[in-house]
Amino acid sequence: MIFNGSNESLWWREAVFYQIYPLSFSDSDGDGFGDLTGIISKLDYLSDTLGVDALWLSPFYRSPMRDWGYDISDHTDVDPLFGDVETAERLIEEAHRRGLRVIVDYVMNHTSDEHPWFIESRSSRESSKRDWYVWSDPKPDGSPPNNWVSVFSGPAWTLDEASGQFYRHTFLPHQPDLNWRNEETVEAALEVARFWLDRGADGFRLDAAHQMMKDPRERDNPPVPDGYERPWKDMGEYDDFVHLYDLGHQDIHDVHRRFRSVVDSYPHHPYTVGEIHIFDLPEWATYYGENLDQLHMPFNFHLMACDWDASSLRVLVEAVLWHVPPGGWTNWTLGNHDERRLATRLGARNARLAALLLLTLRGTPFLYYGDELGMQDVEIAAGEGKDPWGENVSFLSRDGARTPMQWDSSADAGFGSDEPWLPVNTDYKTVNVQFELEDPGSMLNLYRRLLAYRKSSKPLRSGSFLTHPSSNEDVYVFERSANGDTVVVAINFSSKMQTVDMAPGRVVVSTAPTSERLVGPEGLRLPKQEAVIIEPYV
Ligand code: NOJ
Ligand code: MG
Repeated sequence: MIFNGSNESLWWREAVFYQIYPLSFSDSDGDGFGDLTGIISKLDYLSDTLGVDALWLSPFYRSPMRDWGYDISDHTDVDPLFGDVETAERLIEEAHRRGLRVIVDYVMNHTSDEHPWFIESRSSRESSKRDWYVWSDPKPDGSPPNNWVSVFSGPAWTLDEASGQFYRHTFLPHQPDLNWRNEETVEAALEVARFWLDRGADGFRLDAAHQMMKDPRERDNPPVPDGYERPWKDMGEYDDFVHLYDLGHQDIHDVHRRFRSVVDSYPHHPYTVGEIHIFDLPEWATYYGENLDQLHMPFNFHLMACDWDASSLRVLVEAVLWHVPPGGWTNWTLGNHDERRLATRLGARNARLAALLLLTLRGTPFLYYGDELGMQDVEIAAGEGKDPWGENVSFLSRDGARTPMQWDSSADAGFGSDEPWLPVNTDYKTVNVQFELEDPGSMLNLYRRLLAYRKSSKPLRSGSFLTHPSSNEDVYVFERSANGDTVVVAINFSSKMQTVDMAPGRVVVSTAPTSERLVGPEGLRLPKQEAVIIEPYV
């Protein structure tokens, strides 16, 4: 099926998204924290210099900042660190003026423990909001109701001494889980979605979207059996159990259908992408809904879990595309505020191949702020960390990937504060927007070439996908076609020059600074660790 790009309701298929972590993007008032006015001042960079189409903003709502905004105490207010609701509206408006759409984070698996809903709920067992959260009695020996552990480690239950019951929290004890089986809670949560849609938001990224429904019988998770292979990175203590009962209960699909019907009632075609950390592909795909009536897309994190070689990527990409239901559309991403940075995980050279892959696969690409510069994780000195997960499990700290965006070579990298909340990477003198714009070989200019070419290329934006017959264990080669136009993508993962058999054509984008190369009758000569996009002669 070839998507016709003129269909406005499907704008998100051809868009390139860019994730902004507001605390770290641009600080307009010098208080050390990025803010909404800061983001507004950088919109021209995003729409013109870089050339993305849509933004995802991590939370900017009122919050005690225990989990840096993912612990919300008022969903319909903006935290004073970031500005106010009026500034949020202005940001959306200014983005729209530049043709940029804006999706916002929707964090409804839990709230902050300082949210008035929770304060009321914990006030007594008889509270009218008691059932808005998940409360359970201790076991007879006083221990927690079951063996579930929090993602951030430690028990997923905390005892409220006053009322003698435990409340459940998938993450920090400061983030009590909402009860999505209570109709009043659901109504209140949906009202929040309407609040932001009414203010022009183009949709939502749904936080913890597979964790909102758990086993109502609260059965113990089984311990991992011998030889069990983790589907994802090392998660510490969380990996001691198979997560059979504390995520992805079948009722979750009703929640997503319900949410989608709210979103679909708006005429401006809002879009939803859900944080779905499920690596079993058939299960992952159920989040589209049988009639494509749940999430527009579950987030596709599979590239980040894949070995970095031509054979593994080929298998992975085909498997993902095969599992996307008919009429559905996927996304690809190589970084976000929860992961180590792309250039740190794969190294600078591979990060260039990754950029070309990300922007040529069939699906909507999501970029993480700063990855377009090749920003690297920063080592944070012991005791100076900010991430509560890092406090519990040091190797899982996310601070390193959340440092200030590097805009220029001035002392604060142009972020806007003398003392930013997290340190600026010491490489900022050469890894920054201003410096990289001057260097044709920079990561930023590679992203700009890729984004500009993608924008002009129907095959890349919406075309079909086919692995090319000359794909092998050294070079990953695939084709994208639309309306009779084809482009070929070739990525040489090996450490030597490779000759790839293909029809003659011309290189239009290369990870090398210049792309003045032709593919002759002898095929493509592709230097080690280089990648190219080719337009074959017809
Ligand atoms: C997933 C978010 O991406 C992460 O940053 C956050 O800590 C947890 N959910 C809890 O909201
Ligand atoms: Mg500020």
